[in-house]
Amino acid sequence: MITRSTIDQVYETARVEEVIGDFVTLKKSGSNFKGLSPFSQERTPSFMVSPVKQIWKDFSSGKGGNVVAFLMEHEHFSYPEAIRFLAKRYNIEIEETEQTDEEKEKANAKESLYLVNQFAQESFEKDLWELSEGMAIGLSYFKERGFTDEIIRFFGLGYAAEQKDFFYSKALKAGYSEEYLVATGLVIKSDYGGVDRFRGRVIFPIRSMGGRVQGFGGRILSATAKTAKYLNSPESEVYHKSQVLYGLYEAKKAIAKEDLCYLVEGYTDVIQMYQNGIENVVSSSGTALTPEQIRLIRRLTSNIVVLFDGDAAGLRAALRGVDLILEQGMNVRICTFPDGEDPDSFAKANSEEEIKAYLQTESKDFIEFKTAVLLKDTNNDPVKKAATVREIVQSISKIPDPIKQEIYIKQCAASLDVSEPVLFNALAQEQTKTQKPVRKINPSDLPQPVIQKTPQSEQAVNPLFFLERQIISILIQYGNQEATFDELIMSTDEDGNLVEESKTVLSKVYEKVFLDLQQDEVELIQPEFQELYAQLIESYQLEGVLKLEKIMQQENPTLGKIISDILLADEVHQLHDWEKKNIFVKQRQSVVGQLVSETILTFRRYLIDQKIQSLLVEVKEKKSTELETEFLEEVMQYQSLKKLLSQKLNRVL
Ligand code: CTP
Ligand code: MN
Repeated sequence: MITRSTIDQVYETARVEEVIGDFVTLKKSGSNFKGLSPFSQERTPSFMVSPVKQIWKDFSSGKGGNVVAFLMEHEHFSYPEAIRFLAKRYNIEIEETEQTDEEKEKANAKESLYLVNQFAQESFEKDLWELSEGMAIGLSYFKERGFTDEIIRFFGLGYAAEQKDFFYSKALKAGYSEEYLVATGLVIKSDYGGVDRFRGRVIFPIRSMGGRVQGFGGRILSATAKTAKYLNSPESEVYHKSQVLYGLYEAKKAIAKEDLCYLVEGYTDVIQMYQNGIENVVSSSGTALTPEQIRLIRRLTSNIVVLFDGDAAGLRAALRGVDLILEQGMNVRICTFPDGEDPDSFAKANSEEEIKAYLQTESKDFIEFKTAVLLKDTNNDPVKKAATVREIVQSISKIPDPIKQEIYIKQCAASLDVSEPVLFNALAQEQTKTQKPVRKINPSDLPQPVIQKTPQSEQAVNPLFFLERQIISILIQYGNQEATFDELIMSTDEDGNLVEESKTVLSKVYEKVFLDLQQDEVELIQPEFQELYAQLIESYQLEGVLKLEKIMQQENPTLGKIISDILLADEVHQLHDWEKKNIFVKQRQSVVGQLVSETILTFRRYLIDQKIQSLLVEVKEKKSTELETEFLEEVMQYQSLKKLLSQKLNRVL
């Protein structure tokens, strides 16, 4: 683990405008910087960076946050990866918390495997470009396949010489220990000594999502060779076949940007497509996708198009593998190629526009596609047709979203010419059959927090969301200011009667908000706002001032995003330009006070409204008259409370 003090140092040193400036062209605009959004295709800049506040906001996608949030969004780094990246950029030495000897050893061993792999990648690449054997055999092979120098370098392709211990002896000489050379599978030990696994092959390095070399694929060049066409690294601490996707590191930005991932079978398919302008493409290296691989893609998009080679033979079997993708809640489309073509040959033979047009028109919804393929085989044979219907329903049963299921059932009823009730019935059977033991919940399976998903326009219409956001905004902008509030105070007059008296009191905004909500036992409902509210109040109460950076520098970027949203987006319609507007302290205190009172009263009234509504629904459902009166009494109490709040509100307005 990286120590807190290193993290603090990174935050103190890193400048958001410098780091973002490495990725986006920024132009000064007033006290801010502006640029074209890196998250969407736009012509007029709506991407803002504030050097003063050290935050950014992308108005086209709604994303925003601090420097770390930017790296997590743009580079798809994890939190520690982002911190490490910044530490490297600013030459900050990373301090790690104490590890046990065992942990240290394991981390060191893993690190050593990565280092060996990195050395191997560099040395294979060098041999491809500089060794005469490499140039004559490897490089000319890649050129023959139509790869440009640029793309060969971009994917770090290489060549392993024929001599059986060429790499092995080079690595030993460079000081790499035999243990790790064997553990990575680069060298195979036998009674006769060490032999290079990939000797005489061209090399495709396989990188992790973060860009480190995990393993290799090596292709033999002679068509007559008796050994397998492709050899891959064996399983090791750093290479798990079921968890890698070839091309993911190179494609991740394009996948996120296009919100779509193409899945192909082979290494060369990926490279050829990429070279021809389709950059959002990865390969499962010839095997069916695993759940882990699908989850890697799902971090970037939920839309996947599977590209199948032009031979019909394996198609039926391959379609079965796709159910797994449906199970992960992804939207799947299928694209096939003309007979005898694969994505590699197709991309090589066509222009970028042609490829894109083909992918666009030929990608078919998976269920529709499968239905069409299977129906073709049934030849009106009722037994075969029944089996087909069952197979389609099986696929539909894998889709986690019941609404989508229903839409597909309706659609298939039409295309299969079977009645909807029969299909729904079959679906129900399928679901009881496959009911699994309760699945352990994986945090990434849970629905994402509402505010990340809801587009801006919808947020504004939900009054509760708007009010809670307004409360947070008030706390951030005016929390520590003093404002005047009109309060009703009970007192006794000269004759000893109780009277209500309106009085103006001066108090800090955060205290007023806190006490008012606490008095009614009201809590914010959106979990993110609730969390942020708690942290803001704590900061004021414990530190006496607002330490906004502290809140933004947490691992979870959600709160930071809300804060930067509020700071940048609300500048327009907040009442903060006091000096320019010649508003004096007294006046300002009452304007802020009014804003606060109005917001809180409206919020409380809204909550009560909701409470009344839900009680009324309950009353309707309950038959017992005794309960009914009880409920109605409660409703009436709430209604009078609402009236009171409305009166107060009127007085404020
Ligand atoms: N593959 C493998 N081992 C094999 C054959 C294939 O690991 N013996 C994997 C490779 O990742 C390969 C993918 O399956 O890229 C697809 O196989 P195939 O279609 O045979 O290879 P292509 O990618 O088309 O390779 P090429 O065009 O170089 O023949
Ligand atoms: Mn091929």
